[in-house]
Amino acid sequence: MTNILAILGTPRKKNTFQIINRIEENIKELDDEINFEYLFLHEYKMDFCKGCFSCILNGEDTCESYNITKEIKGKIEEADGVIFASPVYVKQVSALMKNFLDHFSYLVHRPDNFDKAALAISTTNGSGLKNTLSYLEDTTKTFGFNFVDKFGIMKYVYEKGGKETKKANEKIKNISRDFLNRIKSKKHNSPSLNELLHFKITRLVIEFVRDLSPIDYDFWVKNGWYEKDYFVDVRIKPFTKLLGKMIFSSIEKQFLKEE
Ligand SMILES: Cc1cc2nc3c(=O)[nH]c(=O)nc-3n(C[C@H](O)[C@H](O)[C@H](O)COP(=O)(O)O)c2cc1C
Repeated sequence: MTNILAILGTPRKKNTFQIINRIEENIKELDDEINFEYLFLHEYKMDFCKGCFSCILNGEDTCESYNITKEIKGKIEEADGVIFASPVYVKQVSALMKNFLDHFSYLVHRPDNFDKAALAISTTNGSGLKNTLSYLEDTTKTFGFNFVDKFGIMKYVYEKGGKETKKANEKIKNISRDFLNRIKSKKHNSPSLNELLHFKITRLVIEFVRDLSPIDYDFWVKNGWYEKDYFVDVRIKPFTKLLGKMIFSSIEKQFLKEE
């Protein structure tokens, strides 16, 4: 059985939900061994993040909201693929989605979930899709997820029918197929220059502040990342590798000089 979890940052079963339904139908057409679960964030009475840094410094289980976040964390752990879905609210993800991501911000320091494929989905009345989808892509990649693709649409375009709806359904079909393929293959894309630099710079900073935050440093050591070229074993394009080395070396020099 393949487990797919859709995390929805909307309190309504309407536009975004409708797109997720389509994805579920498409995936189930390709594979009848799918367990597809919907997680509605509004059903979890999660306080706003208090900004105490405890999840980062002392471990995620020390968060005041851990009684709630541990259930979500458990569902993510069981999933082979996770869909992050949010409507556009004032040009960004909804507060429900943002508050959920804030509670998992320790993953920026201790990324995990490399074995889980991820999709980002959004809907809007007109504006903000680009921002919202880029934010979800960037955040889920930083959290460690194996990001596959993003898709968003204006609700009126989708509801109108005709050519545009047909085009959107085609795209949904394609991302559903790609998502399922990635879940099965678990293959990772070769990192971009930015992704490679993110790895190298985070590793440097984590080592630098190891006395302040030993939990992060121990995590990186435990994962063998001080001996590896990247988070996962994947081929890095030679030019990206070379450029990454050069840029990082100048950043490192600057960083150490300032201390
Ligand atoms: C609080 C709020 C803020 C919104 N902000 C925007 C916006 O900035 N731009 C836009 O085009 N639509 C905006 N919308 C419209 C929603 O993005 C759109 O209707 C979306 O498809 C709703 O998804 P849902 O049915 O899954 O909740 C907003 C809606 C709400 C309720």
